[in-house]
Amino acid sequence: MTRKILVTSALPYANGAIHLGHLVEYIQTDIWVRFQKMHGHECYYVCADDTHGTPIMLRAEKEGITPEQLIARVHGEHLRDFTGFHVGFDSYHSTNSEENCELSSTVYLKLREAGLIEQKTIEQYYDPVREMFLPDRFIKGQCPKCGAQDQYGDGCEVCGATYTPTDLVNPVSAVSGSTPVRRESEHYFFKLGACEAFLREWTRSGALQQEAANKLDEWFSAGLQNWDISRDAPYFGFEIPDAPGKYFYVWLDAPIGYMASFKKLAAEKNLDFDAWWHSDSGTELYHFIGKDILYFHALFWPAMLKNAGYRTPNGVFAHGFLTVNGAKMSKSRGTFITAESYLASGMNPEWLRYYYAAKINGSMEDLDLNLADFIARVNSDLVGKYVNIASRTAGFIAKRFDGKLAASLPASELLGEVQHAATLIGECYETREYGKALREIMRLTDLANQYVNDNKPWELTKQNGSEALLHEVCSVSVNLFRLLTLYLKPVLPKLATEVESFLNIAALTWTDAGTLLTNHSINAYNHLMTRVEQKQVDALVAANQQSLEPTAETHSPARHAEAQAHTIAPIADTITVDDFARIDLRVAKIVNAEHVEGADKLIRLTLDIGEGKTRNVFAGIKSAYDPEKLIGRMTVMVANLAPRKMKFGVSEGMVLAASGETPGLYILSPDDGAVPGMRVK
Ligand code: 2FM
Ligand code: ZN
Repeated sequence: MTRKILVTSALPYANGAIHLGHLVEYIQTDIWVRFQKMHGHECYYVCADDTHGTPIMLRAEKEGITPEQLIARVHGEHLRDFTGFHVGFDSYHSTNSEENCELSSTVYLKLREAGLIEQKTIEQYYDPVREMFLPDRFIKGQCPKCGAQDQYGDGCEVCGATYTPTDLVNPVSAVSGSTPVRRESEHYFFKLGACEAFLREWTRSGALQQEAANKLDEWFSAGLQNWDISRDAPYFGFEIPDAPGKYFYVWLDAPIGYMASFKKLAAEKNLDFDAWWHSDSGTELYHFIGKDILYFHALFWPAMLKNAGYRTPNGVFAHGFLTVNGAKMSKSRGTFITAESYLASGMNPEWLRYYYAAKINGSMEDLDLNLADFIARVNSDLVGKYVNIASRTAGFIAKRFDGKLAASLPASELLGEVQHAATLIGECYETREYGKALREIMRLTDLANQYVNDNKPWELTKQNGSEALLHEVCSVSVNLFRLLTLYLKPVLPKLATEVESFLNIAALTWTDAGTLLTNHSINAYNHLMTRVEQKQVDALVAANQQSLEPTAETHSPARHAEAQAHTIAPIADTITVDDFARIDLRVAKIVNAEHVEGADKLIRLTLDIGEGKTRNVFAGIKSAYDPEKLIGRMTVMVANLAPRKMKFGVSEGMVLAASGETPGLYILSPDDGAVPGMRVK
């Protein structure tokens, strides 16, 4: 049965470059869409730039251009980057479009008719110099709880407290530097609380992952708050009908951008927009998103759709954030890697597609791009195993058999097994367990290589009378290669196209797994993929390295990037004695150790480092030590590590501990007799 499937990825903001964190989502969605298309389903993948809001308005102003100019430029850049990574949208539109303006008004008016919009006067901070109300992230001040300076209006990065901007001590506008004043304004709210019964039911409809449904239960228990959907002028967005000077908050019209992008496609392809959006009887709708925007997609969005008379999604698939080498992407370490720089460095986008796919499992867990593992895995799996099958056998077909595959193939168990795997691999793609799919494909790839090793075509060429066997072995190998290519095609679309032209065949579809190629002329083999070189990765990291501290913009809700307790740069091959001497290693006595509320890995240590000085250090050793047993123990610490603000407080150093391949974590201690403050050299 042909399914009708509409798929979206979250709309990227139009004020920043696409980076490797974003790509976790777009590559993941693209693989799923390509898999559906290979089945012959009518599947459309739509997306758009998310163009509205204060940050975009201010960014344009800073660049001395209009918001329209900014979003037009960024639209081109985003599309260029996505295309470079073979992300194949059927429509890539903009939320600042006619379609979106019209649909946003329609949805809003329907919600108003349903009695779900209310007006309320609220008090907010206002910048008297810029004459504008200030979003929470544009107000800075002192944390009301711990007193830390320079904290944003919505929460403290030092002590983790959340609050409203009016709680900040000595607030300052980040736009003009002036002191904001409180001012009243009338706002429009969507009554989410009134949608609770429907949302509780929808949550259990199977549209959400278990982890996401659990999260929703937490939100239900906390109580659903009505949602402020309006902003005052000046604001870059759509004016609210019947409310001059009031604009839709960017998050109101952003998801409607999914519909708008499809509407544009529908006009181009003559599709029935209403049939796709008004009834959920014959069409399916899926949203791929990051876990940070679950609230919008699993509460506001279905509630808006339902009450405006539209269908609701069949699935909202949330994924985790990207870390690089186990840590949050960092500009100073060069791991905040832009899509553009990756492509410009000449690195193959399919390497990254493969690596991500190998780690995607359909859950909300974070995904780590470990650069050493990336090099090893791509080189081993793709170059060493998969491409190797063709490169070891295709040449014989060209040279010895005039480019033609054998007229018949033996009823080989191996070919049967590989063909049969289409079902399992297909199920894994469907359920977004791409890692599992690739493990199965690599298991089959190992079997195919074993087959070539066992039959040694290079020796058969030297034996008289082995022509037929040589033809058979090479033809079986080429067929195995074709089947493996078919299974890898959603992940490696460009490579698959090259293989299709090498094999002289039409575009592979999923049902082609049921057939074999016999008596068929293939083209000359050209090498299909090069190895990743360490120096390429090093150059990429160097190209992305910035000595600057992250700007306010990169601080903004860390999209697809997560902070870790401790972050580690790659180890240098050699350092000088002088480099080593710069590290102030000291003997320290643990005078107190305690659990940190809310932290999975951390213990808070108070260290005596001699001369009456103590240091507060958060150490990621909870898995190995009971705090009480640590008290009184001697250890070694890095005493001149720059203090690091963490969620739970400031960490003033680091204790040394050993860990390796085998489990376990071991704090280092000096021999008896050492006293706090001694220098370790
Ligand atoms: O978090 C973000 O990057 C938003 N621009 C995502 C919007 S997704 C959709 F709802 F529009
Ligand atoms: Zn604080």
